[in-house]
Amino acid sequence: MKFSILASLVSLVSLAFATPNPLPGGSSVVVRDPTIMYNPSLGKYFVFSTGGGIQIFTSTSLSGPWTSEGSVLPNCSIINNPGNCNLWAPDINILYNAYVLYYSVSALGSQNSAIGLATSWTMEPGTWTDWGAVITSSSGAIYNAIDGNVINSNGIWLQFGSYWNGIFQVPLLNASTASAPPPGTHLAGYNGRPAEGGFLYKPPSSQYYFMFFSDGITPLQGATSRPPAGKEYKVLVGRGTSVNGPFYGQLGNDITLNLDPPTGTLVLGSHDNIYAPGGQSIYHDPVSGRDIIVYHYVPNDAFGGPSYLGINYLDFSSGWPVVVS
Ligand SMILES: *[C@@H]1O[C@H](CO)[C@@H](O)[C@H](O)[C@H]1NC(C)=O
Ligand SMILES: *[C@@H]1O[C@H](CO)[C@@H](O)[C@H](O)[C@H]1NC(C)=O
Repeated sequence: MKFSILASLVSLVSLAFATPNPLPGGSSVVVRDPTIMYNPSLGKYFVFSTGGGIQIFTSTSLSGPWTSEGSVLPNCSIINNPGNCNLWAPDINILYNAYVLYYSVSALGSQNSAIGLATSWTMEPGTWTDWGAVITSSSGAIYNAIDGNVINSNGIWLQFGSYWNGIFQVPLLNASTASAPPPGTHLAGYNGRPAEGGFLYKPPSSQYYFMFFSDGITPLQGATSRPPAGKEYKVLVGRGTSVNGPFYGQLGNDITLNLDPPTGTLVLGSHDNIYAPGGQSIYHDPVSGRDIIVYHYVPNDAFGGPSYLGINYLDFSSGWPVVVS
């Protein structure tokens, strides 16, 4: 009897702390590095994903079903770099009342890269105008001009960079032009630490800015072996009071420091059938009034296959983002 009360207490406690599974609807939607935005006039969510001219999926609900709707730039980017028909890491935002989508042109392991801009009034396929490169990088630089992310708070700021020396930030003059040369301010990661996919977010409910990034090794489609346990992709965060950093993990360490264990606080790691979640973006959902995290993951039972769309609610009321039901 005592034992069974204890056992049920233990299972209650582990239930309370278990990471909820993604909302239904995404488990058949193949994406990488997804980003989301709601268009209130159309009553539809738009999810954008790496691949081709940036894939578009739409749904009237966060729980799907999601419909594939073509791409942002089906005729490739005007940026004249290798990879300009296979665009990566979209970031969707609103600036000057227009929808602005930042995308990357690069190749695996290359620093011959650019972050470009496309704009639209509705986000629908066929409505996008390509503005070309906002910033670029070439080999030998300490940064890589990929994984763009924009925040409009005390100015307009572009976060970018992956691998190499980490994630950096430059101010923008307008949506298509940086007002200082990269690399600018160093926000996260360091030489040799694969901090990727930076996303800076200020919840309406918080005084803090949260610098999210993906840490570790991301399994690509066709992978035949897993990284050592715990070294796979996961979402970490640092927090600060200024849009320009510095950002600190819960232990008080700046997320630009090279420490062991790695700096930054865990938001979402592998659990249940969700393996190596990352490529995240964060959004204040205007329909529910709640914050959400949107990411890709590989199903544990389908390792080596493509990655799929994960969406979960986030709760910042403890002062740190927690994945909740
Ligand atoms: C892409 O190119 C084709 C053929 O030139 C053209 O018909 C189509 O309108 C273009 N699409 C966009 C979105 O520019
Ligand atoms: C931003 O400013 C630059 C320099 O003044 C200008 O060439 C460009 O067209 C502007 N971009 C937009 C999107 O208005």
